[in-house]
Amino acid sequence: MTTREHWGSRLGFVMAAAGSAVGLGNIWRFPYTAGENGGGAFLLIYLGIIAVFGVSVLLAEIVLGRVTQRNPVGAFKQLGGPVWALAGLLGVITGFVILSFYIVVAGWTLAYVGFSTTGAVSSTDPAVLESQFGAFVGGTWAPLGYAAVFMVLVAVTVAGGIGRGIERANKVLMPLLFLLLIALAVRALTLPGGGAGVAFLLQPDFSKVSGATFSAALAQAFFSLSLGMGTMITYGSYLGRHDRLGVASGAIISLDVLAAMLAGLVIMPVVFAFGFSPSAGAGLTFITLPAAFAAMPGGTLIAPAFFLLLAVAALTSALSILEPAISWLTDERGWSRPRTVWACALLCFALGVPSSLSMGAADLTLFGRTFFDTMDFAATGVMLPVGALLTSIFVGWFWGHRALVELADTPGADPWWSRAWLLILRFIAPPALVLILLQSTGVI
Ligand code: PFF
Repeated sequence: MTTREHWGSRLGFVMAAAGSAVGLGNIWRFPYTAGENGGGAFLLIYLGIIAVFGVSVLLAEIVLGRVTQRNPVGAFKQLGGPVWALAGLLGVITGFVILSFYIVVAGWTLAYVGFSTTGAVSSTDPAVLESQFGAFVGGTWAPLGYAAVFMVLVAVTVAGGIGRGIERANKVLMPLLFLLLIALAVRALTLPGGGAGVAFLLQPDFSKVSGATFSAALAQAFFSLSLGMGTMITYGSYLGRHDRLGVASGAIISLDVLAAMLAGLVIMPVVFAFGFSPSAGAGLTFITLPAAFAAMPGGTLIAPAFFLLLAVAALTSALSILEPAISWLTDERGWSRPRTVWACALLCFALGVPSSLSMGAADLTLFGRTFFDTMDFAATGVMLPVGALLTSIFVGWFWGHRALVELADTPGADPWWSRAWLLILRFIAPPALVLILLQSTGVI
């Protein structure tokens, strides 16, 4: 057996894990979800949820990886036997499903870097931009081509291995991402009239808080921290057995929250300064924002910078969505890394084809939604929460007190918060995750 590759440094791990966490979820979903759900009130709830559940499940996943030095399937199998290994397998499958539609959207962001640079999407009229966007994503070959280019970028990087591939890419791309975010936020916050956008994002409106707010915040927190599919188990498995986790986890979480906040402080002031109203998801990113950029002095530079930011954020996350499968097949089956990467990339792309075509080129629906929406819903609405639920139950109940021993960075240490951690995994995270599941599947 060859020796397992490890991160070159703890900073390398933090960059890679933060790169995983900061993705499309932070930039195109968080600002809108926050604004819609009561602004500052949502933010308070979100921060509370991150502090209680986010930290706990993140630590649970990283510890599982650090102690077993295995991929998600191998980690569950080593500690819990063959039946628990299925929880790891679910994570690997979830990764394929998420990546299949993530590359489609990531392909759009690549395309829009080009379109906004050449001035092809520079109308100030959202109706014009809407039909341009619809024509582009509804086409057959162009969106598939961009998704393929993105998949190749991901595969080339992941094939390079942990240190020379994933870690090195994140060490370059994460500083670039934050630089772009900060520069864009400065520009957005100095726009006359942008204050209304800041108010939309931050002003607390407790009248909008309901049960649904809590489950929206929970779902956003888990997706944003890349929890529930073994990504953090895998990244944790490339740490040394005695690498310390406390500061590293704090840094990952802070960077994730910071990126989401900064994204909100870019998007909302821009949208409000030009009299638009924020819409959800793709419409906000590819229709409303380009219209606002076109109306903005310096917009010809700002628009490509914004889409580049999205593409970079998507790339660093996509690396981490692919890695659990690669690590499973190379650890457990002994496959060679480059060959595994290309085979998995091809499979993901093949699964992405119907998602892309279902945006208009073909009438592909499944369970009453477009193929794309069904994949998104199955992964984020069902599979990720189930994965996080199984992880909490496994670490809280099955591994239990042995997990506490493993969590201690220094042998024998027993900080008070480690007991709180176990209590959360046992009693608080499982019912909360069941709540998200019931809500997302429409049972309640
Ligand atoms: N955290 C990423 C985002 O916010 O876009 C998405 C993601 C990455 C989810 C990795 C799950 C995962 F394992």
